[in-house]
Amino acid sequence: MVKTLFFLICFVNFGIYGASAEEVTYRRHVKPIFDEKCIGCHGKDSAPEYYAFKEEKEKWLAKGQGMRMDTYSHLIFYTAWPDTGSLMRRLDDGKNTKDGKPGNMYKYLGSTEEERQKNLEIFKKWVGNWTLKRWNEITKEEMNSIKVLY
Ligand code: HEC
Repeated sequence: MVKTLFFLICFVNFGIYGASAEEVTYRRHVKPIFDEKCIGCHGKDSAPEYYAFKEEKEKWLAKGQGMRMDTYSHLIFYTAWPDTGSLMRRLDDGKNTKDGKPGNMYKYLGSTEEERQKNLEIFKKWVGNWTLKRWNEITKEEMNSIKVLY
């Protein structure tokens, strides 16, 4: 019994330590999800740069196309600056939104609620400070705690 408990404690500790010791990075964790779930509408072959999208929004929406986000440099544009909090507002499951509704890209995180939650958790860890604030609302401190490791 004591022995079992000992092993159990070791195992649990290792599990927790293992998870927290590994930092969530774009290359290892975020890109694979993005490539599976988002690239169809936000990939380089068909999606325009953000400002090009804005200039001809109707045209791109009619095609069901989003703006380009398929590289690290593109994606972080939607976290801290200049499109501050955009990724977080769109991916949030409704726990942090003002109206309690999920952001409109949340549904693409997975085909089941379990998968969506799992992938959201990875995005949250990657971003670090999961703030939905915009550029005119965010503080320097909040900005500093957005991690987005490569
Ligand atoms: C079926 C196509 C489609 C898929 C799949 C999709 N998106 Fe989008 N996304 C769009 C379109 C179209 C827009 C622009 C319209 C809008 O703002 O809702 C958009 C907008 C966005 C924006 C807002 C950018 C801004 O204007 O600030 C973000 C962030 C975003 N998507 C992230 C994602 C992420 C992350 C995924 C994968 C989990 C994803 N999207 C999957 C089509 C898609």
